[in-house]
Amino acid sequence: MARKIVVTSALPYANGPIHIGHLVEYLQTDIWVRFQKLCGNQCLYFCADDTHGTPVMMSARAANTTPEKLIEQMHKEHEADFGSFHIEFDNYHTTHSPENKHFSELIFNRLDEAGSIIKRDVEQAYCDNCQMSLPDRYVRGTCPRCKAEDQYGDSCEVCSATYQTTDLINPYCATCGATPTSRISEHYFFRLSDFEQQLRDLIAGGHTQKSVANKLDEWFKAGLKDWDISRDGPYFGFKIPGEENKYFYVWLDAPIGYMASAQNYCDRNNLDFEEVWNSKEYELYHFIGKDIMYFHALFWPAMLIGSGFKTANKLFVHGFLTVGGEKMSKSRGTFIKASTYLKHLNPEYLRYYYASKLTNSIDDIDLGIEDFISRTNSDLVGKFANLASRSGPMLAKRLDGQLGQLDSDGRQLIDKLAGAKDRIIQDYEQRNFASVVRTIVALADDANRYVEVNQPWTTVKTDLEKTRVTLTAVINAVRILTIYLKPILPKYAEKVATFLNVAGLQFADVGTVLENHKINDFERLFERIDEEQVNTMIEESKESQAAQPAGGEAESGTAEQFKPECTIEDFAKIDLRIARVIKAEPVEGADRLLRLELDVGGPQRAVLAGIAMAYKPEELVGKTVVYFANLKPRKMKFGLSEGMILASGAGGKDVFLLSADPGAQPGQQIL
Ligand code: 2FM
Ligand code: ZN
Repeated sequence: MARKIVVTSALPYANGPIHIGHLVEYLQTDIWVRFQKLCGNQCLYFCADDTHGTPVMMSARAANTTPEKLIEQMHKEHEADFGSFHIEFDNYHTTHSPENKHFSELIFNRLDEAGSIIKRDVEQAYCDNCQMSLPDRYVRGTCPRCKAEDQYGDSCEVCSATYQTTDLINPYCATCGATPTSRISEHYFFRLSDFEQQLRDLIAGGHTQKSVANKLDEWFKAGLKDWDISRDGPYFGFKIPGEENKYFYVWLDAPIGYMASAQNYCDRNNLDFEEVWNSKEYELYHFIGKDIMYFHALFWPAMLIGSGFKTANKLFVHGFLTVGGEKMSKSRGTFIKASTYLKHLNPEYLRYYYASKLTNSIDDIDLGIEDFISRTNSDLVGKFANLASRSGPMLAKRLDGQLGQLDSDGRQLIDKLAGAKDRIIQDYEQRNFASVVRTIVALADDANRYVEVNQPWTTVKTDLEKTRVTLTAVINAVRILTIYLKPILPKYAEKVATFLNVAGLQFADVGTVLENHKINDFERLFERIDEEQVNTMIEESKESQAAQPAGGEAESGTAEQFKPECTIEDFAKIDLRIARVIKAEPVEGADRLLRLELDVGGPQRAVLAGIAMAYKPEELVGKTVVYFANLKPRKMKFGLSEGMILASGAGGKDVFLLSADPGAQPGQQIL
């Protein structure tokens, strides 16, 4: 009996572009959904943009537009990026929708009626200049513990201390730099602890992976705290019923967006929402990253239970993406936007690479650039496409595209390939895509060995019918492998289906054999990746990211950052002088640095400058530059830097030294 399944992926913030880190989840989910559909199950994949919160509001202000316009534009971009990566949602909606407003109010009211909502005063930072309450990440200041400057309002990146925003020393508004004041405001809280037993039972029943359950256990032990679900205006979101200036916190209405997307789909397709979303008829699965476990394993099921909705059958949690073993980095160019990737590479390469790495654990997956290139070239081009290109063109040209019948060797090969079906299905179902890929690659090796042994390129000269028998087996191997690969490589599968002249490639077709069948002309399937393409993509990511304002993700993101206020007296302390470059040389081990020796009118000074991408050492010698003379010498990894030369620009190749009069004398003061 075909199953009925509803699947969701976490809703991306409508505040920034989709990048390769996001894609881990959407590709994982899409592969699973496509697999279910190929098995003949009814599977509905719902998602939406997560549109509310302070960062969207602030980005809109900064761009001199309205949040509505901003999220509309972002929705288009997200849909285009997902579409290009062949991520096929059944509905991609928005949390800024009437359906979401309806369910947010409904759930809130039901929780309120049940006594699970309370009101309590909170002290919060307020910026008189921006005229808004400041979420933790929008306040910066000096860490109360280690005294490191410029730390976030909730935690210190230097000593890892966590604290209240009000504990920060010399706090300032990250948006405008003004000193915030403190305000008391009444907030709404959701009493999570009311649901402790039900949540414990849910988790004990295998709601999620073991490692996630262990983490949840720690949280249960620490005690479930009330959750602040309101924010004061101005705020981009839904007003709390009965309030004039209070809104639902973005994280309250975000998961409700799953329901809103389902409702919107049901309305447009004449389906009963109650049945699709809330009945036992349909299984429900949420795919999420491990950073949002607290919201999805505690708050969300508690909200659903408290308002009379069913909870998901399972929560599938995955790890983060690292690139070359490190966090994605804007300066290293590994924070790659989906749209940048698409300019340089085939989306199916990434689909395949991620699949080859994904398991059902919450371990991070690593994108190794070399590994990515070699796996694409060796598997996609060297194994799968090669098998097709070794058989298709020869059949078309020499044998009129006409398949014959399998002989016993061919039958043996095809039986072996078909025999792996159950294992592959099981691995897909369990989200062990890495294992799926390993199995398929091993089968492709068998098929390629069969080609080597039977040498059709030799027999074609002497025995056309023998060649036809060989190629019939190869074509059938291509067909079975393509069915197995179809959830991962849907476009490739489409091309193969066209060339094989077959309608659908479903898992149910694995057991049938193509014999005495005419195939179409062969079309090239994959091209090798050249290292240069990847390097260009990374270079481009460096440039485009450097020019971006710091992005924001709900309240846990970063605000566009300003330094604390500085007085004209502070500014006057800066001693800017003319300097002439006497010597310039690369710094070993630091691609971006140059070591410059400067004539500053007195003893020579040496500075390390991050301008190597923009200037060659030889073009600098003799140049007159602006020198920050009284900057305290800093010991850096690559040596002592005495002062600084001034430049502006987005970074990378776009760095421009501030020009100074070429005739000016070294040491001459300019401020
Ligand atoms: O962490 C995030 O990117 C959130 N926008 C995910 C929301 S998922 C769901 F709750 F809406
Ligand atoms: Zn401010």
